[in-house]
Amino acid sequence: MDKLKVMTIFGTRPEAIKMAPLVKELERRPEFESSCCVTAQHRQMLDTVLDIFRIKPEFDLDIMEAKQSLSTITSKCLLGLETVFQQVRPDLVLVHGDTSTTFAGALAAFYQQISIGHVEAGLRTGDKYSPFPEEMNRCMVSRLADLHFCPTESNRRNLAAEGVAKGVFVTGNTVIDALGTTVRDDFRFTTEELNRLDYQGKKVIVVTCHRRENYGEPMAQIMKALRRLALTYADQVELVYPVHLSPVVQKAARSRLEGLDNVHLVDPLTADEMHNLMARSYLVLTDSGGLQEEAPALGKPVLVLRRETERPEAVAAGTVRIAGTHETDIFNLASELIESPAAYAGMAHAVNPYGDGTACRRIADAILYYFGRSSRPPETFQSR
Ligand code: UD1
Ligand code: UDP
Repeated sequence: MDKLKVMTIFGTRPEAIKMAPLVKELERRPEFESSCCVTAQHRQMLDTVLDIFRIKPEFDLDIMEAKQSLSTITSKCLLGLETVFQQVRPDLVLVHGDTSTTFAGALAAFYQQISIGHVEAGLRTGDKYSPFPEEMNRCMVSRLADLHFCPTESNRRNLAAEGVAKGVFVTGNTVIDALGTTVRDDFRFTTEELNRLDYQGKKVIVVTCHRRENYGEPMAQIMKALRRLALTYADQVELVYPVHLSPVVQKAARSRLEGLDNVHLVDPLTADEMHNLMARSYLVLTDSGGLQEEAPALGKPVLVLRRETERPEAVAAGTVRIAGTHETDIFNLASELIESPAAYAGMAHAVNPYGDGTACRRIADAILYYFGRSSRPPETFQSR
């Protein structure tokens, strides 16, 4: 029997981190002829992930521009992928999550009538404009996809509520597979500043912030809250903030936080550095999706710098709280976790609602089952 031709498409840092272990799994299995196409919607932030996980894509569309618009990303991906799909004719295209690369990847595959598998399917906020444009990207991909790999049972229910019930598998999130390969006790950071931090004596707070719906006043409020935290707890707290390369984010962060002794504005970290930094930290403040999944697995409390989340599982488990985007709310919640050991202990316990480290195996098994190459579906991921 011919091998199944599966092409994995991704373009940004988080997609790369979460697709990397799946690419490895597909390469390992004799039933698949695996290939990889990156759009490079992100350039430097993608390349570091490819290096760490030793992935050499067969195709690279190299589309990134400074301050790119949503239309530019989508149209460049669509045109580039058309050529790649015509050349390779995969049996299945895999896209991940909710970026513009994801949406364009699914649409380009649909135009060629190629089957589509959606990894990290079924996340929803119910708010069309938040996260923007990700909420609509993932809704549209759910309409286009044939296979839906939901991290959790609640993601499956979201799809069922929209009438999507065929080809749905609950697999866990591949990010937990990735995390299992990066965190080590003897890890040394290549960013020397991070080796010098006093992780025992100080409360090290990891910060990230990049979402488009936070551009403008919400991001300004977030930066003010961070400044106030750094000044109020100057002798107790070290803020480590790897600043996203988006010029909008760089300006917002540097204009308010540069020059404070206990604020470390560093370049984006490689995935292994970020995972090991979180593992050594006290608290995480973020608007990132991926960090909301990783930090709970590492037992670190998270305050989400957004108005809502599509990842309610860790909120229910008590390790993640929605802080919103107002300076005072963020400051008050973080202060409580800095000052009150009881409040901190209430949130700092390791939970793993998002995966057990074997999501990629389940996804590969589900693909074989869907294409009639195996008679058994994978067992459903049950969160503990
Ligand atoms: C994108 C995704 C978002 C995801 C985020 C992860 C969309 C619409 N947004 O948002 O869902 O959460 O990635 O980080 O798909 N840049 C560089 N080098 C890089 C990466 C970015 O210089 O390696 C700069 C460029 O100027 C680029 C800008 O950042 O134009 C914004 O990148 P873009 O992919 O458009 O948006 P993100 O905010 O990164
Ligand atoms: N990450 C990283 N370096 C950084 C910041 C984040 O490797 O400097 C990782 C993080 O551990 C997670 C992913 O990038 O795996 C999250 O990406 P991002 O926050 O850019 O996007 P989102 O998850 O919000 O879509």
